[in-house]
Formats: sequence, C-alpha cells, structure tokens
Amino acid sequence: MELTDQDTQFHKQLFGPDFIWGVSTAAFQIEGAHDADGKGESVWDAFTAKKSKILNADHARVTCDFYNRYQEDIDLIKELNIPNFRFSISWARLLPSGIGQVNQAGIDYYNRVINYCISMGIEPWVTIYHWDLPQVLEQKGGWTSREVIDWFSEFVTLCAKSFGDRVKHWMVMNEPVVFTGAGYFFGIHAPGRNGIRNFIPAIHHVVLSINAGGKILRKLLPEAQVGTTFSCSQIEPLTDKPRDVAAAVRADALINRLFIEPLLGLGYPVNDLPVLKSLQKYIKPGDEDNMQFDFDFIGIQNYTREIVKYSFFTPYIGAKMVKAENRNVELTAMRWEVYPPSIYHMIKKFDAYPQIKSIIITENGAAFPDTVDDNAVHDGKRLQYLQNYIAQVLKAKNEGCKLNGYFVWTLTDNFEWAEGYHPRFGLIHVDHATQQRIVKDSGRWYGRFLK
Ligand code: FCB
Repeated sequence: MELTDQDTQFHKQLFGPDFIWGVSTAAFQIEGAHDADGKGESVWDAFTAKKSKILNADHARVTCDFYNRYQEDIDLIKELNIPNFRFSISWARLLPSGIGQVNQAGIDYYNRVINYCISMGIEPWVTIYHWDLPQVLEQKGGWTSREVIDWFSEFVTLCAKSFGDRVKHWMVMNEPVVFTGAGYFFGIHAPGRNGIRNFIPAIHHVVLSINAGGKILRKLLPEAQVGTTFSCSQIEPLTDKPRDVAAAVRADALINRLFIEPLLGLGYPVNDLPVLKSLQKYIKPGDEDNMQFDFDFIGIQNYTREIVKYSFFTPYIGAKMVKAENRNVELTAMRWEVYPPSIYHMIKKFDAYPQIKSIIITENGAAFPDTVDDNAVHDGKRLQYLQNYIAQVLKAKNEGCKLNGYFVWTLTDNFEWAEGYHPRFGLIHVDHATQQRIVKDSGRWYGRFLK
C-alpha cells in the first residue's frame, strides 16, 4: 500500500503522550453465542427473529463469534498496537431474567475477556448498556416503566462488583437518543415500539437510570473513571430563512442536547423543543435532584452531519432532514455524508459546556463496500475517512479543547443493527461464513500510526 501525504505528516505524538487511543465494539454486534451457557434473550434477539425488521433477514446468532474467538480478536488488537478496547456487557448473559438469579457462566466469560486484555497489556473500557435489554424486562414495560431504574441499578451493581477490581474505565450507557428514538419512537430498532407515548417516558427513565448507574459506580469504585456516551451530529439549516433556522434549533435540541443537558444539571431543552413539556407527567418530586451527575468524562460519537429544513407535516418537531443522497455529497454505505468538520464542531459544542471535565471520542468510523483481493482489503476510502476525521480531532485538540481520547468504530465487520451485515465498519474484514479475519489497509494504517 502506498503512503498517503497524511500518513507522513501525521504522528500520534501530535496529540500528546497521554492521549487515549482505542477501538470500540458492542456485545450484541460481535458476540453471537445468543443462547450459550445460560444466556437469556434480549430485545435484540427477539427483534431480529421477527419478520422484515432487519435488512436481508440477517440475524446476530453468531455474528463475529467473539464469544468463542475473543483471544484471536484481542491478539489482533495487540497486533495493531491499539492500547484500549471498548466493549459492552450483555445484561441477559449475566442476568438471564433481567434481575435476580446470576448466570455465573456469563460472569466467567467477561472475566476471561477482561483478564486476557490485561494479560496482553490492553486496557478494557466497559460500556454497561449498549442497547440489549433483557426481553423479560421489555415485557414488563422496558424503558417506559419507571421500575427500570431499579432493574438497571441491580445490573450496574453486579457489573461493578464482578469486574471493578480490574476495569478502571466505565461508560454507563451508549447513545440514549438512538435507542430510545429508534426503539421507542420510530420502532425501527428493538424493541420496535413507536409513538410519543412510549418515547417520552423512556427518555426520563433513561436519564434517571444513567444518573443511578453513575452514582453506583462512583460509590462502589471510587478510583474508577466514570463516563457515559452520546451520539451527536452537526446540524445545519438548509437555508438562512428563519423557519429553517428555527427547525435546525429544534432538531439540535432533540439530536444533540436531549440527554446531555439534564445530566449536566441544565434540565431538558424544553424551550427549544416544546414537545418535551409532556415529560412533566413522568417527573416525580425529587427527580430534579437525581438527574445531574458529575461524570469524569463524556464520550461523544460522531459520524456525519445533518441538513435540516422546516416541515409543517412532521409532528412534534416541525423539521425534516434533507437526505444526504439528495445533496450530491460523498456517502458511506449507511448513506451518511462524509463530512470531517462535523467532528470538530461537535467537540467544540460539547467543550463549551463548562460542566464537562473531559471529552473522549468513543466512536468514529465509516462503512464502505469492501472487496477481498488476494487476502487483502484495500479500503482507501475508510483510510482516508479516518485520517481526515482524526485531523479534525487534532485541530480541536490544538485549539485547547478538553479532549483526551479517540476510539475507532469498529474492530471487525459486525452486525449493524437493522442494517444487518451489509455495512462494513471494521478495521478488520470478516467473512461471516468462515469467520476468517483479514486486516484491512485502514487497520494496518491505524497500527502504524499507533506504533
Ligand atoms: C452507533 C452505535 C454503534 C454502531 C455505530 C455505527 O450509533 O453506537 O453500535 O452501530 O453507530
């Protein structure tokens, strides 16, 4: 592979010696072993088993088989010089009924993963919840039920007590607006519920659960670094007409501010998104004191930007995205616009909250169609994407943002939720029929960059 210009200009040293470099994954997307060794069913197991929910009727019963191949994959992380590995814990593997009886085989499995990382000199970064609620809890109301705060607290406590002697970096939840929005408003992700009456209570119970989880980790593991992660996209109005500008403000409140602001003690962005007034119905006396939590770091995850215009016909928000495919821009396999400045603007946006102490990019990456040539994958577009986004991260860092790390999404091509196996995000190609791994050019580049 030829070295690009960026390859030669770019050194990880430019980010300083303490900058944290890593790679991110999530349990449901890589583990497989969906019913092995006592694991219970999750909402994603149930959702993927339904008809017409997932592109090409793909499912994640095996996916990358990380459950059995974790050593091989952690060896590859080592080979690529990646010092930090982010993964999540499957709730239903530890607690098959959501609460109560603990499945020791599940604890043993995560102990093996954690211990193997540590033996290889790789730091484990654990996301407690990356969208896979036990199905039995969904049947009792899932995130729309206020009881979920207790269920989640039990799970967090078990994680902290089981793994906290070795895991020093924790993220309570992954991208709350995506799993509540896609899962409880649009119904396109598990558990497939829709409507504002599901979405609104889910929002508040998730905020209270993130807060409860943060407090439990802080109390049980006073030395640990406690964070949580948020998706974000730069939002721009299609025109500078006042109604497009106002639509963009509403979209920004929904997409970028809905969860971070109550957790920072700023309350819900009700003024900019009036539909949130209906949260009032679910806010109980005393809840105001159980929303703000002083996280050690905030994870932000950025892939693209969105262009928004006013839309009379879109209920609750009065705004509509102008699809990237209609904008004559470069697209990824997710049909997301490639737009590196977005990550810079999002770092600046989160940096502007004085309550945030430290920001880590906990996900960034791209899906492009890959082809295997002679046991190699020449994924120039992904490589370029990563270099161009990382250059924007450096720009923000150089401007003094409190930015301390960057994780690529993701290690291996995996199960991309409703999109199935079609989008390939990995630094490592996976043939899902044979489970053969091939490090892509982008992975090789990241490995050289981190050397
Ligand atoms: C994020 C998710 C992650 C992955 C990437 C592409 O929204 O956190 O699991 O699917 O997008």
